[in-house]
Amino acid sequence: MSEMSLHEAIHTQRAIRQFTGEPVPEEDIQALLDAAVCAPSGGNRQPWHFVVVRDPGLKAKLRELYHRSWNAYKEKVAEMARTRAEAAATLERWKKNPAGDHFAAELDKIPVFIIPCLDMRVLSFGDDPEAPSVMTTNSVYASIYPAVQNILLTARARGLGAVLTTLHCRYEDEAKRLLGIPAYLRTACLIPVGRPGARYGKTRRVPAAERTHKDGWNSALAATYEPGRGILRVADRMARNPVTCSPDTLVYDAQAVMREGHFGRLPVVEEGRLVGVVTDRDIRTALLPPEVPKGLKDRFDLLLVRRVKDIMTKNPVTIGPGDSIEQAADVLKARKPGGEGVVALLKALEEEGAEVLSVVSDPDPSDPANFVHYTVRVARADPKTLIPFLERKGIPRPEILLEEAGKG
Ligand SMILES: Cc1cc2nc3c(=O)[nH]c(=O)nc-3n(C[C@H](O)[C@H](O)[C@H](O)COP(=O)(O)O)c2cc1C
Repeated sequence: MSEMSLHEAIHTQRAIRQFTGEPVPEEDIQALLDAAVCAPSGGNRQPWHFVVVRDPGLKAKLRELYHRSWNAYKEKVAEMARTRAEAAATLERWKKNPAGDHFAAELDKIPVFIIPCLDMRVLSFGDDPEAPSVMTTNSVYASIYPAVQNILLTARARGLGAVLTTLHCRYEDEAKRLLGIPAYLRTACLIPVGRPGARYGKTRRVPAAERTHKDGWNSALAATYEPGRGILRVADRMARNPVTCSPDTLVYDAQAVMREGHFGRLPVVEEGRLVGVVTDRDIRTALLPPEVPKGLKDRFDLLLVRRVKDIMTKNPVTIGPGDSIEQAADVLKARKPGGEGVVALLKALEEEGAEVLSVVSDPDPSDPANFVHYTVRVARADPKTLIPFLERKGIPRPEILLEEAGKG
């Protein structure tokens, strides 16, 4: 037995469909089956038998069944591809990588097939395989697949290639007749075993955290997952190649670009690296000082002298394209504690007919992670009615800077 750790075997146990054709010693097959029978089964009934096929004639006939089933499967997927995007994507993938076709055509060249079979009599505590099982339906195949997994892991640990296949099951009765397997057994799968012709890579799977529900079903987590497609990732929803500006762009120009493109923010990029983000709000805040700085005609001239680097948020929090939407939402929630308060404030201002030109939130001095105090620049509002209106709504009183409509 090799020295490979269980951890490494589990994390590199991939489906191998290319083989060298080198023979597999009997001793290796025996080791796989010794591992198989260590598996758990319902009631420890051990309902398994393993048919080991090395005969080239039998393997060729099994390959013919598998190939027929593969073609039928492909036809079905092609039919579904007319109406379903997922099926169309699968078809496209097969066209680009015809490994499945080669595998189906060359299956019988793989040295050994192991066919784990399930004795239905054992599961029904009697001679009649059709008698209702004392176990739930789930427990029937669940009483053999742990043995199958032991075979796959042991193959991995011994440097052998293997893959769990089930396509022959479409013609299972023919397969059973061919091998003389009695009716009371079901073939759970067919595992070809040989020397791998491809490297065993690391398994690529959705991380467990994205499928883990603590203390019951987490529908928010489930909502980020599209069945059959996997988890929604940032790459699925992000805007690609966004318009950017540089730290030296004039604030005036950045504002013009944002207005033209109807963006609320621009990534600030220097030598291909993201160095900051400038938002519409940053620009409005830059205009806030009520005093016009010396030497400028009015404070809108500020836009012509200040540069993006003077007002941008430096080193913004980032998230990768491979991260999940849920992770992105968590980051946003953690970074925007004032979010709910500001939404209520904006809604109330809108209700009152005020035109909001800008909102700035200041951190609570006793708890800087919490934004509590808002300064709003508004037009078309009367502070005399607006303040009591906000108080009635239970919204903390903001600082109000009144502007003439249309000036901001
Ligand atoms: C129930 C079941 C049936 C499968 N049937 C087939 C099959 O008929 N043919 C095949 O090539 N692979 C089959 N596979 C293998 C899967 O395609 C493979 O485990 C999966 O794509 C993951 O591959 P990876 O371990 O290389 O990442 C089957 C796997 C399972 C669990």
